[in-house]
Amino acid sequence: MTQLTPLEKKILQVLEDGDFHSGSQLSEEFAVSRTAVWKAVRSLIHHHSVSIESRKGLGYRLAHVSKLLNQRKLTAHFNACNCHFVCLDEIDSTNLHAMTLVQEGCWPVVVLAERQVLGRGRRGRSWLSPFAGGVWLSFGFRLKQAVTALKAYSLVVAVITCEVLRAQFEKDFCIKWPNDLYFQDKKLGGILIEISGDPDSDVCVVVGIGINVDMQACASEAVGQPYTDLYSVTGSPVDRHPLIISIVEALLNSLERINEEFFASYRSKWNELDLLLGKSVRVNYGSQELDGVAMGVTSEGELMVQLETGDSFSLSSGEVSVRVSPTTSGLLQ
Ligand code: BTN
Repeated sequence: MTQLTPLEKKILQVLEDGDFHSGSQLSEEFAVSRTAVWKAVRSLIHHHSVSIESRKGLGYRLAHVSKLLNQRKLTAHFNACNCHFVCLDEIDSTNLHAMTLVQEGCWPVVVLAERQVLGRGRRGRSWLSPFAGGVWLSFGFRLKQAVTALKAYSLVVAVITCEVLRAQFEKDFCIKWPNDLYFQDKKLGGILIEISGDPDSDVCVVVGIGINVDMQACASEAVGQPYTDLYSVTGSPVDRHPLIISIVEALLNSLERINEEFFASYRSKWNELDLLLGKSVRVNYGSQELDGVAMGVTSEGELMVQLETGDSFSLSSGEVSVRVSPTTSGLLQ
């Protein structure tokens, strides 16, 4: 993992205001040569994929203004909650780093990064995580003999996150089974739970949450499906700190309650947030494609589908993918 140099960080902190700052102003402010400033800006652009605009006579400014994560503020907050906390400029995947920490005995732990270079998505997909473009967060902990409860826990995490988003932005965010976060027909975020260890004794669990905040700097083809971000949904720059703090607080509160009955208490909330409820869906089940209507989830978190033949069945998480039938509102991945 590459971290920003102190100079790169200081330059970014100045550019956070969205205004132009000249090379000479920056070099004076930080008592370094103009070449050093130029090299640092080049490195931010080329090594860390930060979108910095350079204009003759004016200097540099951030193409997309996003407040950087305030490590001091977040560290103080999480340490007060007895939660370990790591905030990095750049990492392969926050999930991988959190897993290593939990395996070493450091938990509960929150790992955040401004950028992931090997962000992981479900089903072996990659997850695009540009610098300061989102909330790239992993929450790690250990659990004793409750692995079966974890399948439904991933749906609980979706409910928790969706409720925080709704409360903070007053928009109708939804969940698409099993745990994708959506706004209207576009994906806003996703959740990836990974476990390691002996399922019969002590397992290490990492809950990875990715929420797109400002993806303007990304080429849309790179994402591979219709997506949105909080900037587009709300029409203004988003401060990520209250969002992160509320999600982690809700996750910490949920830890005590992970057991087989846990999801049952969330089922009605889940159904209220369900994007697919009552819609025609296409289920890819192994090599089969089945068409039916989504009927909500069972108390174990399985998706209930009524087939066109009238038969009903329920799908367990991770085995299938679901698409809105092309006859209704087009494909929704
Ligand atoms: C999905 O495919 O919908 C799940 C995406 C999960 C992405 C998050 S970003 C933070 C954490 N670290 C990762 O490498 N992945 C998860």
